[in-house]
Amino acid sequence: MAAIVKHFLQFKDLDRAEFEHLFARTRVIKERFKRYQPYHPLADRTLAMIFEKSSTRTRLSFEAGMHQLGGSAIYLNTRDTQLGRGEPVEDAAEVISRMVDVVMIRTFEQDIIERFAAHSRVPVINGLTNEYHPCQILADIFTFIEQRGPIQGKTVAWVGDSNNMCNTWLQAAEVLDFNVHVSTPPGYEVEAERAGLFSTAHYEEFADPMDACRGADLVTTDVWTSMGFEAENAERMKAFADWQVDVEMMSVAAADALFMHCLPAHRGEEVAAEVIDGTQSVVWDEAENRLHSQKALLEYLLLGRITN
Ligand code: CP
Ligand code: NVA
Repeated sequence: MAAIVKHFLQFKDLDRAEFEHLFARTRVIKERFKRYQPYHPLADRTLAMIFEKSSTRTRLSFEAGMHQLGGSAIYLNTRDTQLGRGEPVEDAAEVISRMVDVVMIRTFEQDIIERFAAHSRVPVINGLTNEYHPCQILADIFTFIEQRGPIQGKTVAWVGDSNNMCNTWLQAAEVLDFNVHVSTPPGYEVEAERAGLFSTAHYEEFADPMDACRGADLVTTDVWTSMGFEAENAERMKAFADWQVDVEMMSVAAADALFMHCLPAHRGEEVAAEVIDGTQSVVWDEAENRLHSQKALLEYLLLGRITN
């Protein structure tokens, strides 16, 4: 069996002290990068990136980030590899993890990445599954802290689908002690077990999205139809019509509330153009911070707690 290694398969795989370390390192790594100061702690290290779904930000941020840390990244997808021809995920993990130092996977069910990790000799990072998107929430929370200070005790309003992003916000609320106000259409409610929650103490559900947004420090949403659920698109367009984050919803949030969206966004569906392109939106910083926060994550998983 593979030796025990640290993976990032869901948000709660790391504890609060580890996240505090990652946020501090993200700040250092970002500042260094902005000053064009070379930082190559991962020289000779290789990341394999396995994509079973499309990506712009995740691929680019991991690939560029690995290069900027002195290492290299290899892109693999289901179409061109034996993974697409039915090679067992356990066998793929045994082989791939003998050739590289770290693996990032974007796939469908969480079970696939869990099985891969169980047979991997090296750290495995979740680059999005149907259930979770922990790297995105890492960047989102760093972005919140960068703009507004500590997130502990704050309120995040989630408007829309109880998808991988929503589940990960809920896990993060438990780990970092903040609250999530969730509003989903009927039939799309949070499933606490699927979200991997310990309790319901850190979130509250609201039938009306306006009530979820009231007083919130951050309002966030995501597409109505996630990758892998395209067959439900027509049905979802109808069900989610009243769950668009618009100017009215932002007006009942805290006066200094931020708006976030992991992107790609659909203006006129889950978010009004006036909101995503408005002054409270931090979506471009949020996207950029994928790069910096994942560099901190790669450093931590491969080298431990670096302090220089
Ligand atoms: N937010 C995000 O993960 O974007 P991509 O699908 O482009 O990677
Ligand atoms: N919930 C979306 C996020 C895309 C980054 C999806 O899974 O398609």
